[in-house]
Amino acid sequence: MESANLNKEIASCVKAAVRVRPLSKNEEHDLCQTCVDVQRTTNEIILANSTAFTFDHVFLSETIQEDVYRECVYDMIEGCFQGYSASILAYGQTGSGKTFTMGSGIEYNDPSKEGILPRAIMHIFQRCASYEREAESNGIDLSKCVVSCQFIEIYNENIYDLFNKENIDFRSQKNSDKHVVFENSNGEIAVTNITTRFVTTAQETLDCLKEGALSRTTASTRMNSVSSRSHAIFTVNLQFERVVSSVTTPTANIREQIRAKIHFVDLAGSESLKRTGATGQRAKEGISINSGLLVLGNVISILGDPMKKGAHVPYRDSKLTRLLQDSLGGNSRTLMIACISPVDRDFSETKSTLNYAQRARNIRNRVKVNQDKHSRQIIQLQMEIERLRALVDKNERLPTVEYDQANNSALNQELERIRSYIYTIQRSINETNTVSQTLKQNLETVRDHRQMNDTTFDYDQALNQCLIRSDEIQCRLSRMIDVSNVLRKRSPLSCRRKSRLTSK
Ligand SMILES: Nc1ncnc2c1ncn2[C@@H]1O[C@H](COP(=O)(O)OP(=O)(O)OP(=O)(O)O)[C@@H](O)[C@H]1O
Ligand SMILES: [Mg+2]
Repeated sequence: MESANLNKEIASCVKAAVRVRPLSKNEEHDLCQTCVDVQRTTNEIILANSTAFTFDHVFLSETIQEDVYRECVYDMIEGCFQGYSASILAYGQTGSGKTFTMGSGIEYNDPSKEGILPRAIMHIFQRCASYEREAESNGIDLSKCVVSCQFIEIYNENIYDLFNKENIDFRSQKNSDKHVVFENSNGEIAVTNITTRFVTTAQETLDCLKEGALSRTTASTRMNSVSSRSHAIFTVNLQFERVVSSVTTPTANIREQIRAKIHFVDLAGSESLKRTGATGQRAKEGISINSGLLVLGNVISILGDPMKKGAHVPYRDSKLTRLLQDSLGGNSRTLMIACISPVDRDFSETKSTLNYAQRARNIRNRVKVNQDKHSRQIIQLQMEIERLRALVDKNERLPTVEYDQANNSALNQELERIRSYIYTIQRSINETNTVSQTLKQNLETVRDHRQMNDTTFDYDQALNQCLIRSDEIQCRLSRMIDVSNVLRKRSPLSCRRKSRLTSK
C-alpha cells in the first residue's frame, strides 16, 4: 500500500540504448567490412576504431530480443504500475532494425524473435492480473485495471488512424483536418477522432497490433524490402485503482485512480534517396520522412543543449514532434533505442544516429505520478483535515492556565466551530467518493456496451449522466476547498498566538 503524497515532479533524463543489427545476406555476399565495435562492459560504441560514444545500454548484433526487453524496457513497464508514463522510441537509418526491435511489424512464427511491443503487452496483462490478485489477497476490493490502445501513423505529414479501415483506404486523399493534435484537460497531448480499443486480454491487444500493423504503409526499397514509410505510434493507456494510507491516520485509507500512458514509437528511417533508389511516390515519402526527422533532430538539439535552456522548442514544426511533446521534455520516462548498421558503407548515417542518441541523453523530462484530478483533490483535503485535527488535538493538550477565562471560552468556541467544519468536510469527502464510484460504474457501462457494439444503447444519454456526475464532483470539491481555506485561516494556533498577544 502506498502512502498518500502530494504529487511532486522529479527529473528524469532520456535514456539512450544502441543496438547493432547483424549483417544482412546481401552485405555478407558483398563481403562488406564492419566499422562498429561494441563494449558491453563500459556501454561504449567505438566507431571506425576512433570515436567512442557512451550510452545507457549497448547491444551486440547477436543480442536476443528478450535481453533487450529485460535490460531496458522491463522497469519502464513496471513503473507504469506506479503511475509513471513511458515512451520508447526506435530511431535510425532505413533498414537498421527499428521495426524488428520494436516488434511493430509482421508477426514472427518464432516467439524468440518477438520485439518490445508484444513483450510489453504480455507484461502489462500479467502485471494487471498479479496486481488484482495481490489486492484480493490483502482483502482490498479494487476495481479491475482498464487497458485501452490506439494506433496511428504519420504518413506524408498526415495522421491516420490505423484502427479505422475506411480512413486508411483513403490515404491518398488529404485529411489534414480530420485528426487534430491538441492538449487535453490533463495537459497531455492527444489527437481528435482516433479510435480507442478497450482490451481485456493480451491476445486481444496483440490482434489489434496485428490489424494496425497490416494497415501501415510499407514498401520495398533498395535498402529494405519491408521499409516502413510512416512513423507509427502504438499507445497503451492503463488505468488502475490503488489504496493509499494516510500518513497520520494509517487506518483511514483513501482510494485514488492512477493512469499511465505508454507510447511505442517506430519511426520511419532516415534515408538517402540516392541509396534507396526512390523515385515518384517513394521519393515523396522519403522527403517527408527526412523532413519530420529533421524537426525531431532540431527539437532534440535544443532540449539536449544546456546552453539553450529556455529557448523556443519547435514542437509545432511537425506532427511527429508535436505528438512526442510529452516524451521529449515532458511528463514521461523516455528511452530512445538507436538502431545502427555495422557496415562501413553506412558510416556517415551511423555516426549521425549516434550523435542524435548522444544528444537525446541530455534531455531532462519532468515526471510525476498521473493521479486522477478528483482523487488528488480529495487527498489534499484529507491531508488538510488531518493537519487541522492534529493541531486541534495538540491545542487541547496544552495547559490553559496562562489564559484568562474569557480567552479560554473564546478559544473553546473556535475549536467547536473548527470541529464542525472538519466534520462537514469529512462527510463531503465520503459523499464525493460515492459519486465518484457511481461515475466510474457509469463509464464502465458505456465501455461495455461499446465493446459489444451495442447499437441499441443510448450513448448520448449515458455520457450526459457522466458529465452531470463529473460536474457534481467538481462542485463539491470546490465547496470543500472553500471550507478548507476558511479553516486554514482560522487555525487554532494562530488564535492562541493572538490571544497571548492580547493578554499581555
Ligand atoms: N537484431 C536483428 N536480428 C536479426 N535480424 C534483424 C535485426 N535487426 C534487423 N533485422 C532484419 O533486418 C531487416 C530490416 O529491419 P527493419 O525492417 O526492422 O528495419 P527498419 O529500421 O525498420 O527500416 P525502415 O526504416 O526502412 O522501416 C529485417 O529483415 C529484419 O528482420
Ligand atoms: Mg521499419
